Formats: sequence, structure tokens, C-alpha cells
Amino acid sequence: MTDPRTVFLKDYQAPAYGIPRVRLQVDIHDGVTRVTAGLNMRRAESTPVGTPLKLHGVNLTLKALAIDGAELEADAYTVAGEELVIHAVPEAADFVLHTEVEIDPEHNTALEGLYLSKGMYCTQCEPEGFRKITYFVDRPDNMALFTTTISADKKRYPVLLANGNCTTRGDAANGRHFATWEDPFPKPSYLFALVAGNLACLEDHFVTRSGRKVTLKLFAEQHDLRQCHHAMESLKASMRWDEERYGREYDLDIFMIVAVSHFNMGAMENKGLNIFNTSCVLAHPETTTDLGFQRVESVVAHEYFHNWSGNRVTCRDWFQLSLKEGFTVFRDQQFSADQLSASVQRIEDVAVLRNAQFAEDAGPLAHPVRPESFIEINNFYTATVYEKGAEIVRMLHTVLGEADFRKGTDLYFDRHDGQGVTVEDFVQALADASGRDLSPFMQWYRQPGTPVLHVSTAHDAVAQTYTLTVRQSVPAKTGFPEPKLLPIPVKLALFARDGQPLPLQLTGESAAVGVERVLIADQAEQRWVFTGVTEAPVPSLLRDFSAPVILDYAAGDEELLFLMRHDNNGFNRWLSAQTLFERMMLAVIEGGAAELPGLAAVLESLAGLLPGLVETDPELAAKLLQLPTENYLADKVGVIDPQRIHDVRLGLQKAIAKHLSAFFQNQYLNGHESSYQYSSEAIAARTWRDVSLHYALLGTPSFTLRDAVGENYRKAPHMTERMSALRALVHHDAPHAAVCLADFFGRFAKEALVIDSWFAVQATNPLRGVEEVRRLTAHSAFTLTNPNRMRSLLAQFANANPVQFHRADGAGYRLIGEKIAELDALNPQVASRLLGAFSRWKRLEPGRQALAREVLQGLAGRALSNDTSETLGRLLG
Ligand code: ARG
Ligand code: ZN
Repeated sequence: MTDPRTVFLKDYQAPAYGIPRVRLQVDIHDGVTRVTAGLNMRRAESTPVGTPLKLHGVNLTLKALAIDGAELEADAYTVAGEELVIHAVPEAADFVLHTEVEIDPEHNTALEGLYLSKGMYCTQCEPEGFRKITYFVDRPDNMALFTTTISADKKRYPVLLANGNCTTRGDAANGRHFATWEDPFPKPSYLFALVAGNLACLEDHFVTRSGRKVTLKLFAEQHDLRQCHHAMESLKASMRWDEERYGREYDLDIFMIVAVSHFNMGAMENKGLNIFNTSCVLAHPETTTDLGFQRVESVVAHEYFHNWSGNRVTCRDWFQLSLKEGFTVFRDQQFSADQLSASVQRIEDVAVLRNAQFAEDAGPLAHPVRPESFIEINNFYTATVYEKGAEIVRMLHTVLGEADFRKGTDLYFDRHDGQGVTVEDFVQALADASGRDLSPFMQWYRQPGTPVLHVSTAHDAVAQTYTLTVRQSVPAKTGFPEPKLLPIPVKLALFARDGQPLPLQLTGESAAVGVERVLIADQAEQRWVFTGVTEAPVPSLLRDFSAPVILDYAAGDEELLFLMRHDNNGFNRWLSAQTLFERMMLAVIEGGAAELPGLAAVLESLAGLLPGLVETDPELAAKLLQLPTENYLADKVGVIDPQRIHDVRLGLQKAIAKHLSAFFQNQYLNGHESSYQYSSEAIAARTWRDVSLHYALLGTPSFTLRDAVGENYRKAPHMTERMSALRALVHHDAPHAAVCLADFFGRFAKEALVIDSWFAVQATNPLRGVEEVRRLTAHSAFTLTNPNRMRSLLAQFANANPVQFHRADGAGYRLIGEKIAELDALNPQVASRLLGAFSRWKRLEPGRQALAREVLQGLAGRALSNDTSETLGRLLG
């Protein structure tokens, strides 16, 4: 039985009425905001005369309604649920609808539509927030030209912003003022934005390659302005990069970013007026870690890139969300790879994919990159739509090569500029420009589940051939009982035992084609036979993670150790190490082995490798030592015992730490931190320093080391160092932990984002649990109404502290369940997301499973939002 609220892709129909032009007047007053709209309506050619006009609207108080200047009688329309239906529609195809509504942004805790964030008014309209501002055809295939006039008290809200260019501003009666903004590009309502507040501005400019000067403005609270420079530099770098890499130039005379403290997601690409979570725009060495700096750079780029991949060419409907998100994530990943280190970037992107997206695809919340149905579209801003979507675009890029891919994107932007299109249109443009049949890749969008690529190898010394036998299997998922074969690009190389890559020649080819190739696995089973292979080589498979699949290849430990040391693909060195660690740990967790198999050889190999690697590539050294996470391991076992997973993983870390104890201590003690620099070398050194500290404390730490950490906390020249020391103290329960935590809070009491990290470092402490987190929920600085603050404690605890969240007595589940219920009444979107922490519940060992079920069923007995009830239904279903 399907829920009556469900929407289906197969039911898509173009809108019966469009709105080519909108004039909006938004008058902000304390306690009430009045929105007056003049909508130029147009009946679609295919719509019969007299068809009722349906407009979306939520939480609006209707004050006036007129068509072509004539007020509508009460029986001419009905307001029901989320719809305004006008029965008496003029015969003429074009007419003007006037509406006047009142809204209540001050009490809008869902943070969709117009809301108040720390004294400033701002909007979030994607995906369906505009209907909370005024009645509208609130869907992305309705594109309108917007003129927006905002009026408000001049003293309290001196800055009034909307999309496009400011054409008029002036004073009004009673100390008020107004500003009118015109956006020359037609856009869907989800890209609408406005801001009214008391904001400081950092201004700069950018000259496009055709010589146009674009004004760049970054708005934030006065206090935060000194933290805006990194975002500004990132913006200019993004603008240049998109011109050079994709031939895309910015199209308005002004580009604005506004930082707001209350925001459900990271940021939003509204035309010409991006609105950002402060966490994705503010960065300063004193308050922000390397990770924070990198996040700002990539999110600024992501939102900027949407100006073409999303705004100029947009989505026909929300099922196509990955059209803009998958492509734009791919673009921001490419950008970030060009800024710092390409192989480190790939390692980080794949870690996110394997930790978050593979988990989603393996559990009850699995869905295709292009879903076929949903109740609440907000529940589909997921790792699958974003990250797996980006991987599909990456595969297309890998298969076409840079030049043809670029021809394809040029054609896509050119062909569809100003349109709302589908995923098919994107793939078709790439196919048409390159002359390649890419239709098999469409299947990647249509079915959920992570494919497994089974590879076996055979060397024939007499024939001098090396055969790879490749099979694929895709798990069946609910609603997708018979998954189809997929085209899986496999980038590979073969190494001789001396570490040299072999020339690659398949039987039937007249000569070798390089030492690295991309072959496409698209059959249930197939064979690739390489010739001229004199000795059994070591295969380096799925290089750079050329497809989002699970590789099942029974490499020997010595092969993995060999690749960890010798592969010339930095990413695959990391992947080999991960595979090895994963295998060792699973042998104990799942296989019942008493000890980690092959440990001695691994330790010896690390001891041989690390000292040199730290000199040449400290970031890779750090990444090699970041073991697969507990949640990742949980997805690899049949029945999850979170405590056992934690213990085994910690055991391997301790074994490494003990074996190299002096080395790690020296690395940390001999290194020292100086003033902050944002460069890949400096970040690499700091990342290594943090990892060596962690292992040093797990080994046999000397008193000197323990003292040094406290000392380094106090005299840290920047936040990366200070946070590294603080986390080490807290997570190792060091004697100075409490003093330093108190110092940290006092020192940064005025920096909301730093206080978030103060909560997070405690929430993720594997040594402390539920009681600590519960105590922190009562802290005067804690609130459920700010998503960043809520997440810093509750989502961090539930997702990044598995051993405590899954405590055997169920206290972790009860705490989070309780908070979800409270949160759902305030902000359904973030409550629903927090519920995702229970996605593994059905695979938990019976005791924990029963406790989790109790909490979930308790929630199911309550009145919940669409968002949370949909997610809960899928979890329980
Ligand atoms: N389009 C934004 C981005 O990825 C995300 C906005 C999502 N907002 C939401 N309420 N679901 O850049
Ligand atoms: Zn996006």
C-alpha cells in the first residue's frame, strides 16, 4: 500500500499554468510580514480553457485575491491543505493574479521560506520553501522573471538584498526604507532569495575573461567580517577556474554571499545571492581548522558552479535533483583537486563515498540516484544523490576523456540554457558531442545498491598471458528485485615484481596501449587476456576508484603490501592499505580469529615505509594510518556488535602505536607549529602531526609527551594545532582535559562555530557517553533551534561515536529518540536526518536491536512531520 502523500516520477506533467513574470513586495514589520504578489499568469497551450488554477501555499494567511484587477468572490476559490484552487479562471491565455498574504517569519523554526536568524531575515526556498512566502506554481519547471521590493525599518535592517541588480532604493515613512531588485534571468522559485539585516560587507571585484567587471560582496555580522577573506579568495579562484576548465563566465554585474547562523544545510545557490551557513563561509586561523578551511573553499566553489550547472540549466522536476547536484559535486571535487593535492582529494572523496553513501545504499534508506517516488523531497538531499551522482558523472568523464567531456558539457549548456531538463538530456548531450553511445550508463541512475566487482586472475607462464576474469553482481533492493547489468569502468595497471608497470596489450591488439588503461566491465562475466606477460604481475585495480563499486579481489597480503609501497597511483596505495586493514579486522570481528592475521608483516612493512614516506608525502602517510571507521566495518558484517568492532579496531591501532611508539613520539615532539599557512604542504605537515599525536598517546606515552600536549594546547598558534591537542587530551582522558575544555570555552565564548566544535569534541569521545551528552544538552549554550549547535552535539554523538551511541543498555538510542521527537516539532528536516543514525538497526545483535526497535516504535506512535514519518516508515518497513 503506498502512502497517499507519495509523488511519482512517472506521473510527471508539465504545469497547466506558467508564471513568466512576478512582482513581489515584501514588507517586513515586527510580528507580521506582508507579501504582495503580482503574477503574470499564462495558461499552457495544452491546457483547456476553464481549467482550475492551482497554486502552492503553506502557512499563509490570505488577505486579498484579485484577477485582472477584480477582487475574487469567496466562492471563486478554495484554500485546502497546501493548495489554493481558483475555479473561475479567465478565458484569455494571459491574465494577472494579485495576491496578498501575511506570514510569520519570527516563529518559523523549520528554517524554510522566510525566517529570522539571529536578528536578520533570510530565506531558504529550495526545494519547496517559496510556497511559504507566497502563493505560487512552486516547481522548478516554472521559470519567471522576478522583481522584488523589500521594505523594513531602516535602522535595524539597513541592508536589503534580493536576486539580480538593485534598481531603486529610497526612504519611506516611519523610519522605513525600501530597495527594489530585478533579476534579468528567468528562474524557478527555488532560486529566489532575500535578506534584510544589519550586516557588514567585504567587497572585492572580479574581471571576467571577456573583460566585464563583477562586484563581489560578502555579507556577515560585523564581528565575523575578519573571517571572510578566505571565502572571498575561494570565490575568485572558482570564478577563474570555471572559465578555464568549463568555459563558463559569470553573467550578472554583482555576486553576493550572505553568512547566516541558522541554516539547515551547508549553503544555497540562489541566483546572484548565495546564502551560506556560517560554517561554510567563515574561516580564520585562530578559529578554524584545516578541515574547515577546505570545506569553505569547496562549498563556495560548489555554490558558485551552480550558477551554470543548476541555475542557467536547471532541473525539470525534483526527481532530477542529481542532474544539478551530482554534476556540481563532481565539478567542486575537480576544483578542489586542482587547488591542493589531487590524490589526497580523491582519497577524501572516496572515504566519504564509502563511509556515507555505501552505507546508505546498503540499508533501508537506499534509493536510486534518481528516485522514482518520494513523500518529502527534503529527505532526498542524500549522499546517494550528491556523491554517487558525482561518481556517475566522473565515470562519464573517465570514459570520454577530458576533451570529449568538455565538448559534451559545452553542448549541454548551449543546448539547454534557460531550460529545466532531465538526467537523460545531460547524458544525451555528452553522447551527441562525443559520438559515443552512453545509454548503458543511464542504468546507474535508475537502480539502487552498490555493485560488487568480482575479479580473479590467472597467469599462464607458457603462453605468457595474464587473464582477468571479471563478474559483477548488484544486490536486489526493495522495489528493485532484478537489478540490471551496469557499465563499470575499471582503470588498471599491472606491476612487475620489481615495481615497474607493464605495457598493456590485450590479445587481438597489435601493440601495447600504455601502462594504464580503462576497460569497461558490462557483462555478467567476461575475460580480459593480456599478452606478453612473462611473470605473474601484481594488478592495481579500480585505480582512482574509477567506479563506485565494491572490489572483490582476493589479493594476497603481500600483493597489498607491495601496492601500498610501490603503486605509482597515490590513491591506490591508500586503498590497498585500507583493504588490508579491513581484512585483518574482519577476520577477528566476523571470522572468529583470535588475533589479527598477518599483523607482524604489516607492522614491519609500516615501520619500513613510514619514516621515508613522512619525508616525501606526509599527508599520504597520515591517510594510510586512518583505519576504516567503525561504521564502515559495521556495514561489512552480518550481525553488528558495535563494542566488538570498537575493541578490534582499537586493538589494531594500539598494535601499530606500540610497535612504532618512539617514532610517533619523536614525530610529534620534534615537529613544531608556526603561523598558519593554507597550502597543501602545510596542511600535510599538520595532518601528519595530528595522526602521530594520536598514535603516540595510544603507545606508551612518556611524561614529556603528556606535558607537551597540554603545553601545545596553550601556546597553539592556530586552531588546527589547538584542536588537535584538545581532542587528544579529551579522547585520551588526560588529567588536563577538563581544565583545557574550560579554557577553550572561555576563550572562544563569542565564536559560535568554535563552541560547536567544543560540543563536538565531547560528543565524539569514545570514553564518555550518554550521561555526558545529556548533561551537555542542558548546558546554557545548547539549543535545538540552531541546526549547527544541535548537530555538533546530537548528530556527532549518534553518527561519530558509535561505541557510545550503541551502548548495550539502549541509553544512547533513548536519548536520541527523545531529542528527535522534540526536534521534529521545531524543524522536521533536520529531525528526519538525525533519524538516519538508526539506519543499521535491523542488523544489530538481538539485544540492541530490540532496544532500538522500542525507540523507533515509540516515535511511530507520535504525530510526526511528513519528513520524519517518511524516514521512520522506511526504517521500520
Ligand atoms: N542546493 C543546495 C546545495 O547543495 C542544497 C540546498 C538543500 N536545501 C534543503 N533544504 N534541502 O548546494
Ligand atoms: Zn548543490
